[in-house]
Amino acid sequence: MQDPKRFWNDAAETKEFTTPLRADLFTRHVTDRKAEILDVGCGYGRILAELFRLGYTRLRGIDLSETLLERGRRLHPELTLELQKNRTIDFPDSHFDAVLLCAVLTCIPDDADQNFLRGEILRVLRPGGILYVNDFLLNTDPRNRARYAAALPVYGTYGVFELAEEGAVLRHHDPGYVREFLAPFELLEYETMLCPTMNGHTSNAYTFLGRKK
Ligand SMILES: C[S@@+](CC[C@H](N)C(=O)[O-])C[C@H]1O[C@@H](n2cnc3c(N)ncnc32)[C@H](O)[C@@H]1O
Repeated sequence: MQDPKRFWNDAAETKEFTTPLRADLFTRHVTDRKAEILDVGCGYGRILAELFRLGYTRLRGIDLSETLLERGRRLHPELTLELQKNRTIDFPDSHFDAVLLCAVLTCIPDDADQNFLRGEILRVLRPGGILYVNDFLLNTDPRNRARYAAALPVYGTYGVFELAEEGAVLRHHDPGYVREFLAPFELLEYETMLCPTMNGHTSNAYTFLGRKK
């Protein structure tokens, strides 16, 4: 497998991340501005900076790329952005009222790795806590279909594809897979949209909010 840390470190100064925060949906379900909030895979703190502007005060971001975090600390000195050193999330059980996962699953091609991360999120969320996810869905245009087909024999999942020049492996998700993956949460919101990508294209995408049962 690619070294995800290396790709995200290389991308740190050049990439602009694109999936929008649905502030209307987030504020509908996380009403307390003092809620403890964790942004997993926070990158350079783009989403947390929006939450800060909305008045949330207990915000933390974690990411496995130190260079993305450095960019975030430069841009948003008001934020707490920390290195995630291991696959486990370094917080106690039931610590957070809300967790965000924005365009992170697309960077995790393998089901088992996604399941591990979901387990960690379930662990650090308190019962009744809110998970906010946005990510990319499968597309049907010829460019995407060709790259999904090329990667299928290598990775075994339709929707995984390589960005050859950048050495990255990314994933667009089947909506049925997303439904099952997020089934441990009580469904609060699910909306699909068209979203710009970090490489200047457009992709199907979704926003999900769920409650830990
Ligand atoms: C497309 S960026 C999105 C960053 C940020 N969430 C945003 O929307 O602006 C994906 C981020 O996920 C991080 N990442 C990749 N694999 C991860 C993993 N297994 N666990 C946590 N973060 C991961 C990368 O370092 C990168 O910062």
